[in-house]
Amino acid sequence: MITIGILTASDKGSVGERQDLSGAAIREIVEQAGWKVQTMEIVPDEKDIIQGKLIQYADDLGLDIVFTTGGTGFSPRDVTPEATLAVVDRLVPGIPEAMRLESLKITPRAMLSRAAAGIRGRTIIINLPGSPKGVRECLNVVFPSLQHGVDILKGNTGECAEPVK
Ligand code: MTE
Repeated sequence: MITIGILTASDKGSVGERQDLSGAAIREIVEQAGWKVQTMEIVPDEKDIIQGKLIQYADDLGLDIVFTTGGTGFSPRDVTPEATLAVVDRLVPGIPEAMRLESLKITPRAMLSRAAAGIRGRTIIINLPGSPKGVRECLNVVFPSLQHGVDILKGNTGECAEPVK
């Protein structure tokens, strides 16, 4: 079973001033697939704190996939991509490329998300935008390929057969 961490970066959410609807949207989607959410937390938009959580989720909890939500835009407080890039060993540019490609068909503002994705050890870290709508739209794009990515990362398969459509 795929294990998941969900990390919401939100100054307001971290002090209880905003409900974490985006984290909840991620949880709903991944649980529908039968994946297990091991941790779900909200932190302020602080690079060091976000980095610390990503390292803990990857190195200590050994999660398969960590989704972040929020902090990918242009606000001076938006630092989630920088925190992600600081902790990953390898980039996975195709994931944010695909999310932006498909999202641009829905809203031109998709180009304003600076989301990144990468691999730390055996953990895939994926930034999603901060709104529940953005989360659903982006997750739908990447979701069908993630199981295969996890399988390869864990050395469970060397084969890349085309997915059944
Ligand atoms: N992507 C999708 N699919 N749908 C959206 O509604 N919103 C955009 C963009 N990506 C959006 C999206 C907007 S308006 C912004 S400002 C950026 O994501 C950054 O959002 P964040 O700062 O909440 O992470």
